Amino acid sequence: MDTIKSYIPKLHIMPPRGWLNDPNGLCQKDGLYHIFFQYSPDTPLGGLKSWGQYTTKDFLTYEYTGEYMKPDIAEDKDGVYSGCGYVHGDEIYTYYTGNVKMEGDFDYIYKGRGHNVILSRTKDGIHYDEKKVLLTNSDYPSNLSCHVRDPKVFEYDGRYYMVLGARTNDNIGCVMIYSSEDMLNWKFERFVDSANRFGFMWECPDLFTLADKCILSFSPQGLDAEEYRYQNLFQSGYIVLDDMPWDLSCKGLFANMKVADTTYVVDESRFVEWDMGFDFYAPQSFVDEKGRTILIGWMGIPGADYDHDPSIDEGWQHMLTLPRVLSYDAALGIVKQNPVEEILELRDGVIAGNMDGNYEVPEIYELVGKTPNGFFEITFDHSLVFRASENDITLAFAGDTGYGRSIRKIKMPCQVQNVRIIVDVSAVEIYINDGQYVMTTKHYPKKDIAREVKVTGDMDLVCYKLKSMEFRKER
Ligand code: FRU
Repeated sequence: MDTIKSYIPKLHIMPPRGWLNDPNGLCQKDGLYHIFFQYSPDTPLGGLKSWGQYTTKDFLTYEYTGEYMKPDIAEDKDGVYSGCGYVHGDEIYTYYTGNVKMEGDFDYIYKGRGHNVILSRTKDGIHYDEKKVLLTNSDYPSNLSCHVRDPKVFEYDGRYYMVLGARTNDNIGCVMIYSSEDMLNWKFERFVDSANRFGFMWECPDLFTLADKCILSFSPQGLDAEEYRYQNLFQSGYIVLDDMPWDLSCKGLFANMKVADTTYVVDESRFVEWDMGFDFYAPQSFVDEKGRTILIGWMGIPGADYDHDPSIDEGWQHMLTLPRVLSYDAALGIVKQNPVEEILELRDGVIAGNMDGNYEVPEIYELVGKTPNGFFEITFDHSLVFRASENDITLAFAGDTGYGRSIRKIKMPCQVQNVRIIVDVSAVEIYINDGQYVMTTKHYPKKDIAREVKVTGDMDLVCYKLKSMEFRKER
């Protein structure tokens, strides 16, 4: 009987000990992928943030290379916050937010907080050079609160650009775009804002092209929950921009902008959530050496009321999602996500085909299948129910097995045709219709019962056994 002894995943990145949040500094250099992450090793409840790092050549064998960058200058004394990695020549440029809390009686939103853009460079991803403070709060436009963070840098047509997430003094979420010739001196170019107020803060912005579309990704805070939208405390999603804010034949990023003043206005009604499950936030993308645009998200939500996950009793909390390849579906006008194909190598034989009824399953496995009419129900370990019916798709925990998680719903514009589900001890990722929708959740089945899947409905479903990935914990 395969029961769970620990909730430690075998396919997902977790903190070696303590707490993990956002993926940071994602890049590939000389074949090696660098996956940094927000890290508080001393407690699973989160504390002072540094960057931890895993590296991998193939997304199958990972090496934990240690706590890469810690707060050690005045401008990042209260946390090495989120940022990016940009490969330039033989170096990785890491831009991040140095968090500073001043001594005194402050609200730390409008006063008393420093959010600095800091650069440090590394050749090997192990040693980094001096930290250079590039921008401080006094450099940002005056209508902003102190919350300005999470730089993401990219190159377009020979110029460098940086997006930063921000909150105005009037509590409006927005993104700022900076440009630079030399990656050191940055000039404010534009705000990106929504036509109607869309949350009080936009965190972790990202701007990239996919096919010939320009995608703006960000994590807005402060949207009201609806039955089928914005069901988590904080969201993350993207808007496909129609009028490309750049054009090769023109002079740079903003040549085609319709809005004459300093703000590029996006239509917030076109915001598409990246993931419809319980545990997904602050994703970051990067382009790898094969030219794939890969997205990794944090399997967690800041401040969610499911903060008593039983992994805490094991001394750790949170994971990163599997790396997902993004593709633009022109017919649907959306971005599809699918796990990197490398993980197909983990399949290790079929446990069951043509599934109907109850099956005992191991700790890690994959379900792949089609459904002719789109109606089915899959129950994991008597506690997590994934169901597709005429009206919607639901992912629901029975009783209190969700540790605060209850139900998440998708209103389907069309029926479910296929699913691919990866179950990894305490992590579940559900890909629907070739990655049109994804639902990601943590799931903590009872430790003393056999793992089981129950399938009902009209489905042609196969269950594969999966091999574990290798995570080498210490350098
Ligand atoms: C998103 C976030 C970022 C910040 C980081 C701090 O989860 O709040 O905006 O840089 O986490 O850990």
